[in-house]
Amino acid sequence: MPLTVDKGLGNTIAADTNLSFIDGTNGVLEYVGYDIDSLARNATFEETTWLLWNGRLPNTHELAAFAKELQSEYAVDARMLDVVRAIPRTAAPMDALRTLVSALAHFDLEADEQTPAANKRKSLRLLAKTATLVALFDRYRKGKSFVAPDATLSLAGNFLWMLTGARATPSMERALDVCLVLHADHGLNASTFAARVTIATQSDMYSAATTAVGTLKGPLHGGANQEVMEMLLEIGDLSKVDAYIASKLARKERIMGFGHRVYKAYDPRATYLKTFAKQVAADTGNLPLYEMTRRIEEIVLAQPNIIEKGIFPNVDFYSATTYYSLGLDLDLFTCMFAASRMAGWTGHCIEQLAANKLVRPHAEYTGPHGLSYLPIGQRPDGETSSTCPSVKTAMSVLV
Ligand code: ACO
Repeated sequence: MPLTVDKGLGNTIAADTNLSFIDGTNGVLEYVGYDIDSLARNATFEETTWLLWNGRLPNTHELAAFAKELQSEYAVDARMLDVVRAIPRTAAPMDALRTLVSALAHFDLEADEQTPAANKRKSLRLLAKTATLVALFDRYRKGKSFVAPDATLSLAGNFLWMLTGARATPSMERALDVCLVLHADHGLNASTFAARVTIATQSDMYSAATTAVGTLKGPLHGGANQEVMEMLLEIGDLSKVDAYIASKLARKERIMGFGHRVYKAYDPRATYLKTFAKQVAADTGNLPLYEMTRRIEEIVLAQPNIIEKGIFPNVDFYSATTYYSLGLDLDLFTCMFAASRMAGWTGHCIEQLAANKLVRPHAEYTGPHGLSYLPIGQRPDGETSSTCPSVKTAMSVLV
């Protein structure tokens, strides 16, 4: 087959998936055929994960058994607490999480067991423990003692408990749960692709999850919700929104939380979150922040050509105020994204292994050819990489 150039792979289908379907033109996202809006309104994160991992909604018994299994895995090996303490308190939580997810492998006797059953058990452990690790690191960096997990709570409820040491109200727990549902999977996004590339080498689930966390960290992927909140705090007040946004637009700067590579219509994840975020903000005394977001949306969508360009609020625009209203520090926002997307990452890894093919695209070689090797003592000073040993072929296919 002739090679084609597709930088960014935006025109390449690199995998089959049964997990989620995206129609960016019409603003549709479905998990296993269920519209994201109906799942966000009705399903819990546990139910959503079961759906993604099993290809259908669970019955009452299956859901209860799954929740129990997940709860039994919230705790981490005691030696993981030493790993948490070995990380500098000043580390960014996403960097800490990358290290901690990787470290989990050392305390799982099945880490290198590659059977489908073992991989499912590891998916469950990774999902249960990721939120735990975020809470543990946050308490450690603030000099607070660790809070033991409560295996009677949902993943969202337990996270808020371990983070704050206080019981979340049902509406706070539900708010976080909705955000987890909305972020659980999203086609072959960058971090999911990275996880599939790693597992496709027949590496292991922990390595794939670690790859994914590192990929999610980037501001072009998982970091935008934090930047939305920074923008709102910088603006500070509803009365200053118009001038702030006008000057940003005049300088042709991007408004954080708007636009999406795939969606050229309203991000379907933002629809419910928009109304839900208002309730959460009202319940927690953060309504002024929410009103700022609504005003920003009005201004941006009134710009000439903006709708033609397909620029609408994305999920991060409204998840930012929701996380903030729940009392999460700004640098934990992307960690919550990771805690949720772990469901998608692990689901995709299992799917990849079921019909595995090593992922190995080509690079177009753009360097020199046919250079003569000079012994080191004969090379001129300030030699540059242009005199590197010759490469015989423009399209390297070496593995
Ligand atoms: N504000 C204002 N204008 C925008 C924005 C924005 N946020 N995003 C895109 N545009 C404009 C661009 O200036 C460009 O205009 P032009 O054609 O006149 O030059 C046009 O829309 C197309 O922009 P592209 O960069 O080609 O769009 P792309 O699809 O590559 O970008 C991206 C998508 C990176 C998300 C972009 O919209 C952006 O930077 N948004 C802000 C960051 C953000 O919110 N990211 C979160 C994404 S959601 C998620 O990851 C869960």
